[in-house]
Amino acid sequence: MTDIFASPSATDILNLKEIEKLPASAKVVMSGMRPTGKLHLGHYMGVLKNWIALQEQYPCFFSIADWHALTTKYDDTTSLRDNILEMGLDWLAAGIDPQKATMFVQSSIPEIAELHLLLSMITPAKWVQTDPTLKDMVAMLHEDLSYGLLGYPVLQTVDILSVRAGLVPVGKDQLAHLEISRDIARRFNHVYQTALFAEPRPLLTETPMLLGLDGRKMGKSYNNAIFLSDSADETWAKVKTAITDPARIKRTDPGNPEHCEVVYKYYQVFASENAQNLAAEECRTASRGCMDCKKLLGEMINEQMAPIRERRALYASDKSQVEQLLKTGSEKARAECQETLRQVKALMKLF
Ligand code: TRP
Ligand code: SF4
Repeated sequence: MTDIFASPSATDILNLKEIEKLPASAKVVMSGMRPTGKLHLGHYMGVLKNWIALQEQYPCFFSIADWHALTTKYDDTTSLRDNILEMGLDWLAAGIDPQKATMFVQSSIPEIAELHLLLSMITPAKWVQTDPTLKDMVAMLHEDLSYGLLGYPVLQTVDILSVRAGLVPVGKDQLAHLEISRDIARRFNHVYQTALFAEPRPLLTETPMLLGLDGRKMGKSYNNAIFLSDSADETWAKVKTAITDPARIKRTDPGNPEHCEVVYKYYQVFASENAQNLAAEECRTASRGCMDCKKLLGEMINEQMAPIRERRALYASDKSQVEQLLKTGSEKARAECQETLRQVKALMKLF
């Protein structure tokens, strides 16, 4: 599990040794994703692989955050249900093991909504208004900021605190939200004189986010992503289109792997060190052509995706099984949330 490292913020540098020192109660992992569409290789390498490593060591809760999806896309929900199931399918295919990790659907747990209401009371509006990640989301909106979207970081905080998690594997873009989660946890503990909540810490992944095949951010809207649901042939067809060192025009031109923003970067993620070095050397001496280089890359990707595709096909042939696993997981997560809510209500002296 070397692919987990510290947060860059000086206050909470966290490495595995430090994790070991945390009390057992804080060594619960929680993370989530919005079900907005198919997952691609970037999600797998950057996020899911890490989750799969974590499930071996810690209690893990992984949420399909459909309420969070509604914060920006409430008007057309025709594919939401499908996206939820597809996300469960992608997670299972990737190797999330429902025997080890609890995967659940956020909206099936009403206690999360109630906790969101309660924690919203102790959250200064300024904290969410100044959240840079939220500001970025608002800047991309084509309409006024909704009350629901404003609460995004508070809802995310509740996701984490409702299962009393202390470790949150996320990307850099989520650090601002997580800072708010820490503030809310600390404030709750202070106001109600309790130690109920650990201050959740980020676990950042070392794997660089994979670029799309055209060198832009990998995303479904750019048509530059390899999806977990793609076949080996589809994958190869896509890898063929990947950009290479733009200065290498003729086959006989020596290339520079450092300037090969996609193919060589992918080698750094998918290839062994030997295969990386060999590619770099043969590129520099023009003894390898870009098409052959891509061909090898395609083979390596397909080899690594083979077990994922196999599992995906298995689950895809019986979606009711996916649904059932999500139901069971949601019940398990719900029990944790109910216990948290019970304690929160008691501390707040509610009826
Ligand atoms: N906001 C996260 C994202 O867009 C998704 C998310 C929802 C999440 N709830 C969470 C992440 C709880 C970590 C913990 O990626
Ligand atoms: Fe990139 Fe490989 Fe072509 Fe070199 S040979 S430019 S590493 S694709």
